[in-house]
Amino acid sequence: MSEATTLPSPARAAAPLQKTGRGWLERINNTLCAEGIALTEIAAAVGTPFYCYSARALRQNFADLSAAVAPLGVSICFAVKANSNLSVLTEFARLGCGMDIVSGGEMERALAAGVPPARIIFSGVGKTRDEIRRALTAGLHQINIESVAELESVAEVARSLGLRAPIALRVNPDVDAGTHAKITTARKDSKFGIAIDEIPALYARASAMPELMVTGLAVHIGSQIRDLAPFRKAWSALADLVRTLRAADLQVARLDLGGGLGVGTDTEAGPDLAEYARIIAETVGDLGCALNIEPGRWLAARAGILVSEVIYLKDASGAHFAVVDAAMNDLMRPALYDARHPVLPVHAPRGGAAPVWRIVGPICESSDDFGAYPDLGPLHAGDLLAFDNAGAYGATMSSTYNSRPLVPEVMVDAGRFRVVRKRAGTDVFLDLESPAEWCNPRAAR
Ligand SMILES: Cc1ncc(COP(=O)(O)O)c(C=O)c1O
Repeated sequence: MSEATTLPSPARAAAPLQKTGRGWLERINNTLCAEGIALTEIAAAVGTPFYCYSARALRQNFADLSAAVAPLGVSICFAVKANSNLSVLTEFARLGCGMDIVSGGEMERALAAGVPPARIIFSGVGKTRDEIRRALTAGLHQINIESVAELESVAEVARSLGLRAPIALRVNPDVDAGTHAKITTARKDSKFGIAIDEIPALYARASAMPELMVTGLAVHIGSQIRDLAPFRKAWSALADLVRTLRAADLQVARLDLGGGLGVGTDTEAGPDLAEYARIIAETVGDLGCALNIEPGRWLAARAGILVSEVIYLKDASGAHFAVVDAAMNDLMRPALYDARHPVLPVHAPRGGAAPVWRIVGPICESSDDFGAYPDLGPLHAGDLLAFDNAGAYGATMSSTYNSRPLVPEVMVDAGRFRVVRKRAGTDVFLDLESPAEWCNPRAAR
């Protein structure tokens, strides 16, 4: 484990980048293009549905966030759960971005992408002893502890390895993040973190344990947060806690401020980065702690789309359905969080009267419904539609429900595209299965 107090500074942080904003998606010759490549061309090559990520947008997002928070000495750890594609992780790793992981699998991905272990933070509420062992032997920067039981596990594993584990205690500050209930993580009744009033005693106890190096505190209050006031509340509580701990002669060197920064949609504005940075400065900026944040969505969501084809149009009881070949197994967020993804037709805008389209997938669940879209114009079977803001919590949350394949992921960069994860179809999954012989009448005979 790294003894470093701060995350090592990136070798090549924030290299000068072309300013693109959302410019990676633009209409050229009446066709929606990704970094200049027609989405129709990619669809013809890989089939639909497919995810498409822009390397330029990933780099730009990192540069914009760095420009806002680096002057405050804040390091960035990308939350791998948002998008764990190796090519995405490698882009961020090259920029010197650290990673926040929540499983052994994410740890292996971050390491495979070339992220130095000393820039990886291990969060998550249920780390197994095997995962803790791997984290300690790999030399991760920090393990964020979520309970007394986990603290004891980490101490036990560290003792057995003869190592000292750098840990932070994840605080539950009882703050409502003002976001969807299923991505709210710091209310009193949440499963995450340790109640703020229990921290002083536990911090003192952990500081006295020789196999632990208690470096500080962590907090993460939720995701897709657009009104920034809850951050101020949580980080102010964290700052008060630091002062309380220091008054008791306890060392607090690091603060992990978590992720959660939201992005705008077609109907709601995104948060203001300058305001976000100001809140960090005003709440925890003068404590002399090494600071880091763990954004996932903000870095990746707007750098990805899911491209799908309209299979059928269907009218039923006054509703106008466009049945597309992407479904809730490919993009879970609408079904799980009532999330709305802007939809962009790939074809040229069409004139003429058009209904409000309900875009739905082929899965046998009523929740396989992406929502109602009034401005798409006339649609035809065979049209391509791109779900925007799909670069975070898209492919990582996908499943094979209804025995559907995992769809390909494509990356575009400077006029080129590559398939960065192949389609995994039923053949791949059938290969993993071996029916018990008593289920197979021919084998039993
Ligand atoms: C501990 C932790 N850190 C960071 C994140 C990333 O959140 P977001 O993608 O909203 O920035 C999450 C997401 O739930 C998380 O649980």
